[in-house]
Amino acid sequence: MKVTVGELTEMKRNGDKICMLTAYDTPTARLLDEAGVDVLLVGDSLGNVVLGYKDTLPVTMDQMIHHAAAVVRGVERALVIFDMPFMSYQASVEEAVRNAGRAIKETGCNMVKLEGGGRFADVVRAMVDSGIPVCAHLGLTPQSVNIIGYKAQGKQYEKAKEIEDDALALQAAGASMVVLECVPWMLAKHLTSILEMPTIGIGAGPDCDGQVLVLHDMVGLSGRKPPKFVKTFVNANALISKGVKQYVKEVKTSAYPTTEHSFTIQESIVKRLKAAAKNRKKK
Ligand code: KIV
Repeated sequence: MKVTVGELTEMKRNGDKICMLTAYDTPTARLLDEAGVDVLLVGDSLGNVVLGYKDTLPVTMDQMIHHAAAVVRGVERALVIFDMPFMSYQASVEEAVRNAGRAIKETGCNMVKLEGGGRFADVVRAMVDSGIPVCAHLGLTPQSVNIIGYKAQGKQYEKAKEIEDDALALQAAGASMVVLECVPWMLAKHLTSILEMPTIGIGAGPDCDGQVLVLHDMVGLSGRKPPKFVKTFVNANALISKGVKQYVKEVKTSAYPTTEHSFTIQESIVKRLKAAAKNRKKK
């Protein structure tokens, strides 16, 4: 049965941990869904993880829609979140709602996510009023890299208080969930205890209601040194590399393919073709 927004809130109330991972294409989404991941995030990390950009800023609505629709086609159970890309919701409330509407209509995603604090409360309220569930994102917000860098947030009282105020304002505006990225674990624990909406941590310690990681980081496929908070659960890079090297070797030495991996026809047909070719040569 499909995971719903209501069920995620219920999971928080019951103390059941929510498991979330990023996904960007159909076969991976199918794999994660079948493995029991509750929520798939089509993150704008698409930009740096899959499309080769240095950060998330160049990612467009059209690119996100292309990949999010592919993810939705691979999923039966997980709830799927569409990450609103840079400048798709910042300019005005109206533009934000139109873009969030496109995200839901054109992909079949169940929720949108946006980065930023209380100043986006009006945007969140307008989206929710239009029937679009919203996940907030606080702490390290990669779309603000040119202002805050890639540093943990909320280590000083003022910043920790700001994050608390932001979370409460976004919850009051109707947000259903919040991602807390790279905030001290004790702050994440405190926020988890005062908020009704589930908190999903990434580099925010063990006490959040759920966890999210970038898939390519946790399976060793990102081609970069993973951040401190990432655990590499399997080294897919080594597995794929081993398989591809073996393929190269077998093709070069004609060990692959054999006739076992090939299609057959009746020998009489080949005989006829050969005879015809011989006749053509004679003429
Ligand atoms: O884009 C993304 O993958 C994200 C996660 C890091 C939470 O926003």
